[in-house]
Amino acid sequence: MCGIVGYIGSQQAAPILLEGLTRLEHRGYDSAGLAVLGGTGIKVAKRAGRVRDLADGLPKRFGGKVGIGHTRWATHGPANDVNAHPHTDGKGRVAIVHNGIIDNASVLRQRLADEGVELASDTDSEVLAHLIAGSEADTLEAKVRDALSSVEGTYGLAVMHADFPDRLVVARNGSPLIVGVGDREMYVASDLAALVRHTTTVAHLEDGEITTITAGGFTSARETVTLDIDPDAYDAGEHDSFMHKEMLEQPAAAERVLRGRLDERFGTAHLGGLNMDARETRAIRRVKILGCGSAYYVGQMGASLVEELARIPADAEAASEFRYRNPIIEPDTLYVAVSQSGETIDTLLAVQEIRRKGGRVIGLVNVVGSAIARECDGGIYLHAGPEVAVASTKALTNMFLGFALLALQLGRVRDLSIADGRRLIAGLQRLPGQIEEVLAQEDALAELAGRLAEAESLFFVGRVRGFPVAREGAQKFKEISYRHAEAYQTSELKHGPLALISPEVPTVAIVPEDELTDRNVGALHEIDARRGPLVVVTHDGVDLGGLAAERIVVPRNERELDPILLTVPLQLLAYHAALRLGHDIDKPRNLAKSVTVE
Ligand code: F6R
Repeated sequence: MCGIVGYIGSQQAAPILLEGLTRLEHRGYDSAGLAVLGGTGIKVAKRAGRVRDLADGLPKRFGGKVGIGHTRWATHGPANDVNAHPHTDGKGRVAIVHNGIIDNASVLRQRLADEGVELASDTDSEVLAHLIAGSEADTLEAKVRDALSSVEGTYGLAVMHADFPDRLVVARNGSPLIVGVGDREMYVASDLAALVRHTTTVAHLEDGEITTITAGGFTSARETVTLDIDPDAYDAGEHDSFMHKEMLEQPAAAERVLRGRLDERFGTAHLGGLNMDARETRAIRRVKILGCGSAYYVGQMGASLVEELARIPADAEAASEFRYRNPIIEPDTLYVAVSQSGETIDTLLAVQEIRRKGGRVIGLVNVVGSAIARECDGGIYLHAGPEVAVASTKALTNMFLGFALLALQLGRVRDLSIADGRRLIAGLQRLPGQIEEVLAQEDALAELAGRLAEAESLFFVGRVRGFPVAREGAQKFKEISYRHAEAYQTSELKHGPLALISPEVPTVAIVPEDELTDRNVGALHEIDARRGPLVVVTHDGVDLGGLAAERIVVPRNERELDPILLTVPLQLLAYHAALRLGHDIDKPRNLAKSVTVE
């Protein structure tokens, strides 16, 4: 959420910053800006809109070999030119870019106003530029430290100062920052995506760290690591969007998360990263899963897997609500934080709350070395590869598989038989190929999605295992098509929502062949009787009792693993509906990848 990029070296900074901002745009796309420091001091260009608007309007003479850039997702103040970053002290001495939220901004704004400082924007971030400009400390790093001593809140911060033209100072507290090491040039960014075309030798700053970066290096004692990353993973290639590319990557991503983790001989999973021996694993009495948005819905699928396979009571809860209800943290509960980015602040704060109270938390996280991964006691990396599209797809699939592996391991130290363990392993091994089969239905799904896109409002319904699938289907549909899509338990329809069913309101129903098929079909007849159009996601041969419904057929697997195969067509439906409506698939309005503010 919001992107930062910085450069210092012997090349012109502006083109590097613009390219970096383009790669970070999924983190915020309300406005963008950059500042460079050249012979004539600090120059700033910023505006509401996309990075390409900024690039088009950039003055011809915008030279400087030091610079910072920002792409914004508005929190304080509307998305307009003035509120865009970088912010300055108004005198051209200091420029800053900031991610995060300054909690005591109004107190600081008032204090500055009392001192006669005029603030140009409505943002919380601008105070930082004035506080740094007002500090009497000797070095830029000391000025930044001084300014931050009166700040409460979260920040990823990069600072330039006209009196210190050979350096940038960066600081991190709760908002990611990565330093990239080049050949007599240095980079900084909030996300690897902006760095990988230039360098893969990086250092992740820790919370509380402040570092001076010059062309020759940086002052932190933190060790650099050289990451094994394919820079092409951050390009959409021949696809019209990252979402499309990432959906199609799911079979390969699924293979990666399973690789080396399945033990056919003993019908179990090997998850060394959990850091728990069999005795500790057996002592778990409850599993509590925490995540946000789609990660929460997959968490609900994960809770079902744990209950079904391991017979341990399990549930999922929105991490954003968890810590505000003063939760009871139990020593024999295994807490599981699930997150693609590993940076979602609500999930991170939930993890910290649990650990503060002595609970054990493991992470199902995609981004290696991210804040949540580091905060947890152990975990399962998801190996989905970089996910750029705001609408999460391949990471969610791998979350589901991560939960299946966890449930298998928990089950096999309890009552899950070796035969059942092997049955599930065989099912897991079939999944990548079956996901491929669902993806192969893209043309038919595109045609159906085009018709669904015409509806202003839709229901997504399912029961038990199918309900989180419906929730995720509605989530994906609404976030990129902007249609009102609401998920309900099929069984609850007649307790209220049936009143809304009409020929204008289609229902997408999740009806796998399982112990609830007949009941599901019964409820769908109630929709049919009210002339509600129906799309049924189901298995081949399921008897829909003469319903006038469109069918989406997914391959059969073990029942416990059905949810993920039922989910994949819903991604394609959402994608093609949004495409038909002409929306920017990777940058849905008002949203951003990685929600790093509360
Ligand atoms: C929906 C979506 C979001 C994320 C949520 C959690 O497609 O992507 O709902 O799932 O913001 O993000 P992570 O998984 O990064 O914690």
